[in-house]
Order: sequence, then C-alpha cells, then structure tokens
Amino acid sequence: MNGKYRALWLNNDGDLEVIDQRHLPFEKKTRVLKTAGDACEAIKDMTVRGAGVIGNVAAFGVYLAAREFAGDKVKIKQAALMIRESRPTAVNLMWAADRMLNVVKRADDVMTACKTEAIAIADEDVLRTQKIGQLGCDIIKNIMSKQKINQFNILTHCNAGWLAILDSGSALAPIYEAHKRGINIHVWVDETRPRNQGASLTSWELLDAGIDHTIIPDNTGGHLMQQGLVDMVITGADRVAANGDAANKIGTYLKALAAKDNDVPFYIALPINTFDFACENGVRDIEIEQRNEDEVRLMRGLDKSGKLQTIRITPEHSKAANYGFDVTPARLITGLITEAGLVTPNQDAIGKLK
Ligand code: MRU
Repeated sequence: MNGKYRALWLNNDGDLEVIDQRHLPFEKKTRVLKTAGDACEAIKDMTVRGAGVIGNVAAFGVYLAAREFAGDKVKIKQAALMIRESRPTAVNLMWAADRMLNVVKRADDVMTACKTEAIAIADEDVLRTQKIGQLGCDIIKNIMSKQKINQFNILTHCNAGWLAILDSGSALAPIYEAHKRGINIHVWVDETRPRNQGASLTSWELLDAGIDHTIIPDNTGGHLMQQGLVDMVITGADRVAANGDAANKIGTYLKALAAKDNDVPFYIALPINTFDFACENGVRDIEIEQRNEDEVRLMRGLDKSGKLQTIRITPEHSKAANYGFDVTPARLITGLITEAGLVTPNQDAIGKLK
C-alpha cells in the first residue's frame, strides 16, 4: 500500500475532493466535486482517470446526486445513468453505478445509504489492491529465484498505480510491495502516448515512492525484451472478458506480442470488479473509446523558462486517430493477478470467480 495518499476523499464539507490528474506531474492540485454533474464532467475531462478511480467517482457521484436531489429517487437514478455513460471502456464505472442504483432502489434513507455504499466500495478497493500487491510480489520473487537474479526489471504501460485504483494500484501494487520488502526492482515506464499517463503519472508516483525507474518511448519495449532487459511485463486492465481477453490502454497489445516473442512473462493485475462476465469475447465485443484527435496533435509541458505550454506537433491539417484502448487476446497473457489468486485467462477459470 502506498500509505501516503488517496486519489479522492470526502472533505470536511462533505463534498468529494479529488486529485486533479490533468496537472500532474507539474502541479498537485485538487478539485472539489459537489454535484453528480461535476462527477460526470471530472470523469469525461480526465480530472480523474483509471478504471478503479472512475468507478469510485461514479459511486460518490450517485451520493452527491442523492444529496443534491434530497433523496428524489427518479432524479438520482437519472443522474446515476448519466454518470454510467461518461466513458465506455472501463467496466468498473458501470459496475459501481449499477451497485449504487441497487442501493437507491432499496434504501429508505437514500442519502445515508449511498454515502455508506460509496465508502464501502472505496474501502473494498483498498483491500483488493493490497492482496494483488502481495500475490504479484510473490510471483516476482519466484521468477527471481528461478532465474537466479538479484535485480528485477519490470515493464509497465499507462498508469495503474494509486492514482488509478485505491490505494496501491493494480499493476503498481506488486512493485510497491516488492520495494517494501527490500527487493531490488527497476521499472521501465512506457510513456503511453497520446496522454502520457506513464511519463507524467506513473513516473511521478514511482519517484515519490523512491522506486528506481526509467521512462521509455512506447516503441522501446520490444528492443529491451530482445536484449534480455525485461524480466516481466505487468499492466492493469479496464475490462477483462469472460474468455480472458483484456482491454487496457492503447499499446498494451503490442507489448504482449513482443513479450510472447521473447518469452517474457506478461501479467495483468486487476480486481475482480474489472471482469465483465457477460462479455464472451473481448477482442470482438469490448467497446473501445475514441477520444479527441487533439490529444494526439497537441502536447503539454514546461518550456525552458518553466512555463506550462501547449504546443502542436503535427501539420495543422493532418487528421489524427485516437483509440483510447486495445484488447490483448487471452493467449498472450501469462496470468491474471487478482485478489482471489492467480487466475488463468480462460473461460473455465474466470467463470469460477462469478
Ligand atoms: O484513459 P485512462 O487513463 O483512464 O486509462 C487507464 C488505463 O488504461 C489503466 O491502465 C487501467 O485503468 C488499469 S488501472 C486501474
């Protein structure tokens, strides 16, 4: 567990306060969300992101709706459905909204019940990621002792740390745990174009935790694997289908292909609420978010004088495509690290988790 921060909390006014991830790594700012509309906007504009955390904001967003509409169930339900649709790929969002809708339906004191449930979901995520961290770290130790190595190089994509899922992250949880247990670990951090969640968020988390890491352009991983410089790839997931196909940030699939070609173990770490048991075939059926092309065309960063600037890096009239996620077929995944243990990415094993 990172033990220092949470990505979101209820503040003294009872509003939801979140770390505004759009400003990292340059500024640590928070944003206060007072209404369901605020929660919806914060998910859409990427103030908050990462499958787990958008699920939490959805849950607290329903609580904010209950407060705003003084327990009016029809209006709360409308707000919950609006939040449910704010992004399409990460299933934690729908899972959390549905769990809250169930509470709204049954409760007498809707506001209190929604608050209790949103807090429970967040607390459960904390425990889930702790377990993922412990199991993932045991796997790291096994690989190290089999290969007789005393430094472990692990490659990760996007940000699957505590900014993405309370409180230790999914893919980063084993890394935090390994660091805590004194294992000599080094992390290759894919920059993760176009929004650079690796370069800006994962590196920020790891630096803060004192974990050795190196940021690499997205297309470097294959070369490193050929050179024997990667002992394991680990990523999080936004939705894993019943057949084990896993949606995660765009570019994950290519890392899995390179890992297969180089016999590097490729793990996905996820809590069970990231499984979509109703989705039979992930490659075929998981909806992939398409985002604004300006995320590809424009870059944000500090200039030489330390001023935050947005610049265009493409010809003005070239089109850009911005698929937010891709799906890694189950056959390329070594194992799914969950709070219920290591799961083989196939229908039989996943079916037992229902
Ligand atoms: O578009 P984002 O930044 O929300 O995408 C996040 C990811 O793809 C993470 O890797 C994923 O949510 C797993 S971590 C809970």
